Amino acid sequence: MLGAEAIVSKGHLLGTVVAVKKRIEKKYRVKKLDDLLRRERTKSEARLLHRAKSTGVLCPVVLEVSEFEIVMSFVSGKRPKIIGKNVRDFGVLLAKLHSADIIHGDYTPANLLQSGSKLYVIDFGLGFVSQDVEDKAVDVFTMLRAIGNNEKMNNSFLDGYKSVAKDKAEKIFGRVKQVEKRVRYAN
Ligand SMILES: Nc1ncnc2c1ncn2[C@@H]1O[C@H](COP(=O)(O)OP(=O)(O)OP(=O)(O)O)[C@@H](O)[C@H]1O
Ligand SMILES: [Mg+2]
Repeated sequence: MLGAEAIVSKGHLLGTVVAVKKRIEKKYRVKKLDDLLRRERTKSEARLLHRAKSTGVLCPVVLEVSEFEIVMSFVSGKRPKIIGKNVRDFGVLLAKLHSADIIHGDYTPANLLQSGSKLYVIDFGLGFVSQDVEDKAVDVFTMLRAIGNNEKMNNSFLDGYKSVAKDKAEKIFGRVKQVEKRVRYAN
């Protein structure tokens, strides 16, 4: 499992199956800066995984953290399909994360794992904590774009989000429209 930033491998720790996410060196970056970035992202990802727990969102449990590596519980699952019921849940989970001001940073189905009827959120490597409407709107926008041009699916996702975020949703959805416009003009 080789992502852009990290190598995730399956391992064992004290008799349980674990996923080991190791941030790999980027040769094109100056070493000192690269080390600093990898160290910071590793720490922040572990912190966010921990913080996400308090929202009731399922995500891997952090078992060990070292300089460039997180050992976490292995989630046996696959990327969820873009179908109505799932998509609504994508919205519910994102709104729960946002209720604790957790911005995921790369919220797409590729960073979700479905295990039976359960959905797990993974990969908080680009995440951060923020109360900002703009940051939340960008998370919403990222998933809308990943879902594609399907009004029914888009609405399911937004409905799920709104079912948790309640009256906070409107302001965020309003900002999503601005983000959409900006992205359209930039392309
Ligand atoms: N806890 C876990 N349990 C099982 N599989 C995992 C776990 N964490 C990550 N994976 C697998 O490893 C892949 C890459 O993990 P992750 O998205 O965290 O890393 P990444 O380097 O950011 O990847 P990418 O750049 O592709 O998004 C995931 O898509 C998933 O298949
Ligand atoms: Mg990923």
